[in-house]
Amino acid sequence: MDRNEQIAALIDIEGVTKEEIVALLTTPKDLAFADVALPCFRFAKALRKSPVDIAKELADKISADLPPYLLSCTALNGYLNFKFSRSNMAEETLLRVLDEKESYGKSDIGAGKTICIDFSSVNIAKPFHIGHLSSTVIGGALSRIFKTLGYNVVRINHLGDWGTQFGKMIVAYKKWGEGADIEKGGVKALHQLYVRFHQEAEKDESLNDLGRHWFKLIEDGNEEALALFTQFKAVSLAEAKRVYDRLGIEFDSYAGESFYNDKMQPVLDLLEEKGLLVESDGAKVVEVGEGMPPCLLVRSDGATLYATRDLAAAFYRKKTYDFDKCLYVVAYQQNLHFKQVFKVLELLGEPWAKDLEHVNFGMVSLADGTMSSRQGKVVYLEDALNSAVEKARSIIEEKNPSLENKDVIAEQVGVGAVVFGALVNNRIKDITFSYDKMLNFDGETCPYVQYTHARCASLIEKAGGFDVKKADFSCLENAHEIVSAIAAYGDMIRAAADKREPSVITRHVIDLAELFNKYYIDNRILNAEDGVKNARLALTFAVKQVIANSLALLGISVPDKM
Ligand code: ARG
Repeated sequence: MDRNEQIAALIDIEGVTKEEIVALLTTPKDLAFADVALPCFRFAKALRKSPVDIAKELADKISADLPPYLLSCTALNGYLNFKFSRSNMAEETLLRVLDEKESYGKSDIGAGKTICIDFSSVNIAKPFHIGHLSSTVIGGALSRIFKTLGYNVVRINHLGDWGTQFGKMIVAYKKWGEGADIEKGGVKALHQLYVRFHQEAEKDESLNDLGRHWFKLIEDGNEEALALFTQFKAVSLAEAKRVYDRLGIEFDSYAGESFYNDKMQPVLDLLEEKGLLVESDGAKVVEVGEGMPPCLLVRSDGATLYATRDLAAAFYRKKTYDFDKCLYVVAYQQNLHFKQVFKVLELLGEPWAKDLEHVNFGMVSLADGTMSSRQGKVVYLEDALNSAVEKARSIIEEKNPSLENKDVIAEQVGVGAVVFGALVNNRIKDITFSYDKMLNFDGETCPYVQYTHARCASLIEKAGGFDVKKADFSCLENAHEIVSAIAAYGDMIRAAADKREPSVITRHVIDLAELFNKYYIDNRILNAEDGVKNARLALTFAVKQVIANSLALLGISVPDKM
């Protein structure tokens, strides 16, 4: 039984189950009132009593025989308020963290459920720029969060590897790039060819026709066209994987748009059969209503579209993975696209259409305004990571010149700062990317949290370890907020999953670090008397562990020294 179940077991209300009570228990913002509270308003009608009276009667009954883990049970304004015995809760919570370590926070509430997460989904042969940062790190964090809760998670990179741009790439490559070392020049070389194509096509319209021609050849499986397409794709993927490695991101499937080339017709046939596909100026569309423009699925020249492939992908995923939920971590610019696609599936009467969900997020731009692809001045994610690492390195050099392994730590700090910076606010908010802000050791940043972790590690090391059996937990009464934050970690993971919002974890870990740093200023840890020292070190250890576990969920490593 966990704490809330124990509490629920104390509360007898006619016609209300223990499960219902557990679901109603809340944690107030201000721990001065209660650690857990039960609002009694819901029961007034059935019991024909005022919530104030209900709370009062329950409080009297429970207080008369208070279990040792409770400090008090009182009634206030229709709420039944429970306060935990401070030292008892500290002991229980810290022992649990010490026992479970990396597993602390794990649960099996998702056991038997499958969740597909479509994220990152970069466009092949285009630069992997910071516009794809959010999808990559939000999706990565959500996949780890759901895994920790026991879900079977399928991580899908729906590569943008289809479209006339690949025909254009081939034309450009054959005209100006052949012999150029694409393998060595990588995506940058490919992108330059693409930019050149557009410059030349402005002068010579026929290049566009040629591009379409070559794309048709790819579609038809022409050998030369396919070979080039495959080569471009391999070069781009190798580069993307370098970035994924640094971010600790992995996928279970790279089935991108091209994968659905032969899987769209059955969907179109089904739509036709149900009379949903209508002709409009030679094109084929589905009227989706609700004030939305029709969903265009086949152009008048017979070409299929992004939406057509997403429909085929949804069917394929349902058939292959039998998901309970399928999340699409994609920028809010595509709100309409997903509404249309989901609506088409609903119109088809697919019962699982309701399980598809667009997890949207805001835009990333640079503080100095350089994120304008119009001027061809995109910022490659890899370059951004390198800059952050370089800056981290110079800060470390200044703060701690004798530190060992500076390169490894600079990588952890620099990459961590970028990832954390993209996850620190509600995902729907636009982000202004600023190295100074992300790498500020005193802000709501990754280095601040990592530094707190290193401080905890160094305290424990200086003490030469600790013995929890000798801990006097009664000295932790003034650490109740920290203990509560540690105890709430599991709830935070569940809330992050429910809201599809990794920022629940980033905010919580920042709060925890701030609470500990305040505590550290006011309470001597190393020079305290034995019982106190061991209790405070156990607390330090638990803080360190929860920071490490939180950052691991976000894909960030934690140095022991920095
Ligand atoms: N490649 C697309 C883009 O960069 C994102 C794909 C998202 N996933 C999907 N199933 N449509 O805009």
